[in-house]
Amino acid sequence: MPRTLIAGNWKMNGLIANLAEVERVSAAVSPSSEGPELLLCLPATLIAAASSRSDGSHLKIGGETCHPKEKGAHTGDISAEMLKDAGASYVIVGHSERRADCGETDQIVASQAAAALRAGLTPIICVGETLSQRDAGDVLDVISTQMAGSIPENAAAGAIVVAYEPVWAIGTGRVASSEQIAEVHRLVRDLLVKRFGDAGRGTRILYGGSMNPGNAAEILGVDEVNGGLIGGASLKADDFLAIYRLAAQ
Ligand code: PGA
Repeated sequence: MPRTLIAGNWKMNGLIANLAEVERVSAAVSPSSEGPELLLCLPATLIAAASSRSDGSHLKIGGETCHPKEKGAHTGDISAEMLKDAGASYVIVGHSERRADCGETDQIVASQAAAALRAGLTPIICVGETLSQRDAGDVLDVISTQMAGSIPENAAAGAIVVAYEPVWAIGTGRVASSEQIAEVHRLVRDLLVKRFGDAGRGTRILYGGSMNPGNAAEILGVDEVNGGLIGGASLKADDFLAIYRLAAQ
């Protein structure tokens, strides 16, 4: 069984004052914890400070996106190497908000994930269908296409994480049913095994979309769910830790 990963995604939320929440999370878990991995992906402005404030703790810090290149004339962008330098160990790539807001295609997402691997970060590669794609019965096709296009050539099964986030469940309070989650996670697992052989059984597959302390136990109990990517409920230390504790049971 792959080790569970409980990952927060603060999105475009958080000022220096909110680092108190990061400190509360890192102080609440024992440094030697053998339970699930615990991660907060933060706005780039907070990564260096959050990393130093959680140094030596069980909590890891990640970024929310990265540019495919290492450096150069790309005003406003942030490279995977810069995230690593600031103390990150993970980075989310291909979140549906970036696919929609910034026109990030599968090809761009694959190049960002490759950049993460180059820099020594673990990419969390997001896939997920929109409501109209689900209504049209295209879920499995959409996920298969995103999986084929978004995982870079040079990836090893253990070096990446995949997150299934149905777009209609993100920030809406509308959670996918256990059956819907199980169906897609099974498909993702099959695709990983096809691509990586047996090693594909070790890749973590996270669920994301309106996960909270009230529904986390059920979601985490679904077959092939190896953790969660949590937006809104990761902003408050109490909620995020409640989900972590459920995962640790
Ligand atoms: P949510 O966001 O938990 O607020 O729905 C999840 C995500 O977008 O990663």
